[in-house]
Amino acid sequence: MGRTGNLWPLLVALATLARLSESKLKLKVSQSPVEVIYNENSLLLCEISELTGATLESKNLGVLWTVTRGTEASTAFSYTSGDVQEAWPEAEILESSILNGNMSLLLRHVTFKHTGQYKCEVVIPPNNKASQTVKLEVLARPTVTVVSEKVVEVGTGGEMALGCHLSGYYPCESNAEWFQSIPSQEERKLLTDICIAPTVKNPDGTCNVTTEVRLEPHVEDIGSTFECLVTHKTFSEPYLVQASVTLKEAEIRLSTSSIVGSVIASIIISIALTALVIFLYLRFCYKVAPKVSEIQRPVKLIHQELAEFVCQVSGYRPNVITVSWYLKRCNETKEKLIADWQVDDLFHFQFITDKKMERNADTSETGMKWKVKAANVRKNNDGTFSISSILEVYPDFDVDNSAQITCKVMHPSEREGILRTIRLQIDGVPPKLANIIKPPVVHHNNSVTLTCPINFFKPHPLKITWYKIIDGEKIYLVEHNNGAEENFYQDKYSHYLVPFSYPDHTLSVCSMLLFHATIQEDENSQYSCEVGHISLSNPAEKHVQLNVKAYPSLNAIISEPGNPVIGEQLTLTCKVHSFYPKNITVRWLKNDDVIMNTESPEIVNSENELYECTSLCTITATLSDLHSKYKCQVLHESLMYPRFTEYTPESLVSFPKVSEITCNHATPELERELTLTCKIIDFYPEDIQVEWFRNEVRCDDVKYGRIMETSLCENGLYSKVSTVTLTASADDHQAEYRIEVYHSKSSTKPFKQFYQLFLKGSPKFSEFRLEPESPLYGQPLSVSTSVCEIPHDNITVEWYKASERIKGVTNSKPVLNSENTYKINSCLKFTVTAEDFERDLHFQYKDNSNTDVPVFKRRIQLPLTAVTPKVSEIKCSHDHPKKGENATLTCRIEHFCPADIHIIWSKGWTEYKDKQSIETPKIDSKGLYSTVTRLPIVAIEGSSEYICEVQHAKTNDIIEKMFVLNV
Ligand SMILES: *[C@@H]1O[C@H](CO)[C@@H](O)[C@H](O)[C@H]1NC(C)=O
Ligand SMILES: *[C@@H]1O[C@H](CO)[C@@H](O)[C@H](O)[C@H]1NC(C)=O
Repeated sequence: MGRTGNLWPLLVALATLARLSESKLKLKVSQSPVEVIYNENSLLLCEISELTGATLESKNLGVLWTVTRGTEASTAFSYTSGDVQEAWPEAEILESSILNGNMSLLLRHVTFKHTGQYKCEVVIPPNNKASQTVKLEVLARPTVTVVSEKVVEVGTGGEMALGCHLSGYYPCESNAEWFQSIPSQEERKLLTDICIAPTVKNPDGTCNVTTEVRLEPHVEDIGSTFECLVTHKTFSEPYLVQASVTLKEAEIRLSTSSIVGSVIASIIISIALTALVIFLYLRFCYKVAPKVSEIQRPVKLIHQELAEFVCQVSGYRPNVITVSWYLKRCNETKEKLIADWQVDDLFHFQFITDKKMERNADTSETGMKWKVKAANVRKNNDGTFSISSILEVYPDFDVDNSAQITCKVMHPSEREGILRTIRLQIDGVPPKLANIIKPPVVHHNNSVTLTCPINFFKPHPLKITWYKIIDGEKIYLVEHNNGAEENFYQDKYSHYLVPFSYPDHTLSVCSMLLFHATIQEDENSQYSCEVGHISLSNPAEKHVQLNVKAYPSLNAIISEPGNPVIGEQLTLTCKVHSFYPKNITVRWLKNDDVIMNTESPEIVNSENELYECTSLCTITATLSDLHSKYKCQVLHESLMYPRFTEYTPESLVSFPKVSEITCNHATPELERELTLTCKIIDFYPEDIQVEWFRNEVRCDDVKYGRIMETSLCENGLYSKVSTVTLTASADDHQAEYRIEVYHSKSSTKPFKQFYQLFLKGSPKFSEFRLEPESPLYGQPLSVSTSVCEIPHDNITVEWYKASERIKGVTNSKPVLNSENTYKINSCLKFTVTAEDFERDLHFQYKDNSNTDVPVFKRRIQLPLTAVTPKVSEIKCSHDHPKKGENATLTCRIEHFCPADIHIIWSKGWTEYKDKQSIETPKIDSKGLYSTVTRLPIVAIEGSSEYICEVQHAKTNDIIEKMFVLNV
């Protein structure tokens, strides 16, 4: 579409701003459609109805009228910047009118080519642009011509015709009616015996039609006028045209030739009477034997279809005759009468009365619906008679094939009767095979039905064979032969027949082969249905090719890692398997947007000729994925709709970042408050547990400082600041503070940070060193430590066990080192005993010259284990005490640690808590505790069982010893 003048696009470009703001230019056009009569002028209104913020100036104004007819568009008028760029010769707008805001288009002598959709576009750059459309329809008035005779004579029994011809009109809907105005009647009468010729189209699209009326005028109609009434869109009211026909009375003329005619007629009658006498003589005195033709039969006899056999009997006289029809079937010995037909017309004047004596055998011997049609006796010119006897037959293939039909004619001139015989040869109608119906998609491991439609045949015997072609060889599957069926692969194939029968004994059958299709057996296989029938010289066949498809199955999406970490790579794996054929498209979608499309991913041919593939999608997990749905979508030709599996990263985590512990003072000082701070940031989800430890002891009360936590959530990630505030004491020097952060969603192990407190100006204590590292009871042990960064040598170091000062300590002399501070080593040697179990050793440091420096105490507990006592057998002071004699039972309990034991003597249900005695445990040679327990007894007759039970609380051990005393 050539927008003209090159200026228009520029104007439009300038006015594009108009779209941004509401245009202040509004147009008013004619109401659509504008209808105009062919060859008249048409005005398409287009006026500016509203314009604000601009004035109309010729150099800043564009007007464009375009017309669309069907899909074609053209320019009717264009005006830009004061010039008419293009215009149809018949189109006109005055420039003065344009500048008045009147863009109405005048079209002169409109023709059908002007029909279309007109668009009036007005552009006033830079802000105003508007357009409106209006439809123009061109109409054409019909030219009405009335055709008639000038004068019509009434009363002659003739007809008259009136035509009303409409031509060259548009649109093609119209109506024409004929009315008759009779002088004697007030009302005009609508004539209904009309004939409307089909509407014809002229090359210019207009139409012609003719409405004709026929009538037989009578004398009363004389003086009538006839009018054609035309209705059409172009007429505001119906248009009337009168026919210029005059009805007038016919003149009556008498003929003289009629007298001559009657004389001739009487002569003829007398000759006819003579002829009649001769005729009657011939009619009753001569017998002429009939001639009987061979039986005429149809070219083909179709099973259960009406067939006519004709026996022509001619040239006999008198008209007395019997025609009998007989049937003899193959398996029958006697002929049976089907029907007979008789005329006995000897005493009737047939040519006068036209009556017949006929007899039809109502009950035939065959009992079939076969019948003999009533035949017309024809009289020949020579006075003889002829008849055609017609036997109507419905032959049945099963019983009537090769049967014999006989026509027997009996006439008075023949004693024996004349016989004509014919043998029946019955045909069927061959079946028509339609294409085998198969499902649109055959699915692997699903059942399939192939339907072979066998249509419109008769008679019913049919042989249906299904076979499959493998490597060019026919493999027979099912053979159905008129009810008898053989299935060669019963475990795979089933066969069904669905029959339909029609009233005319035509049959149709759907032969259905049902089986389980698999790719291995049926992909690309060819199945055939072969049908044999008596009316087919060769069996008819249809073939079908199967293409088996297998649906893809999708496993659940696997994510690696299982708990995706925000900001880290996440690989999603989608396994698609068991599909066929190979072509597949795997798509990854995030919230229904495709993020990855793989047309044919790497395919693995797994078992059973089915394919599988694995698609990976690697993404960087972000916080927004918490609400995202990832889909692995599969498109495959076996699927009507894509299949998919979904994955939502619900278990998304973000590891906490645990900062180093900081102290608000660079060098913490004694007796000053200090705060340890640890920031735990960017973790998700929110659940987190923070614990502080001081030298392996959990800080759960204020003893070691106040714990405070503040939580924060930013961009969905959580943060926490945990602080411990404490006032440092001498004990805190060199104390190790530890924070443990448990974020069970992201890690099973805690995140840890450490901070060791060093108080300003305090000496540094080394760790205690044990020699040997694991002390043993009864063995010597040396415990040593050292202190450095001591400002001077006026100090004292001492060791304490509980609160008891230990002697025998070896201290080195304070040694001055390069930093001008002193270092001292101290070593404690002793033999380890059970008393040292769970007892603290203190190392104490004291500055003798500066009382402001506190006494530092360092503590150690030896890593000793509890030892279970060894209990000896019970001994009695007398070997064989006599009845009533006193004796003592003794039991030794040795080598245990700690000393805490519980002893119970008993006999039967009796306990001897008050009588028993226990010695205080003492350290023995092995450095462990040993003791002895005794129970005084009085021997009684018979046998007594004494039990000593020793419970050691620390080890939870219970040891029992038994003694039997026989007196
Ligand atoms: C616009 O012009 C046409 C003819 O040119 C005229 O018939 C019509 O009345 C005019 N409209 C106005 C509003 O003047
Ligand atoms: C329609 O009628 C006109 C006038 O009678 C005639 O000229 C024309 O050929 C007709 N058209 C057709 C298609 O018959």
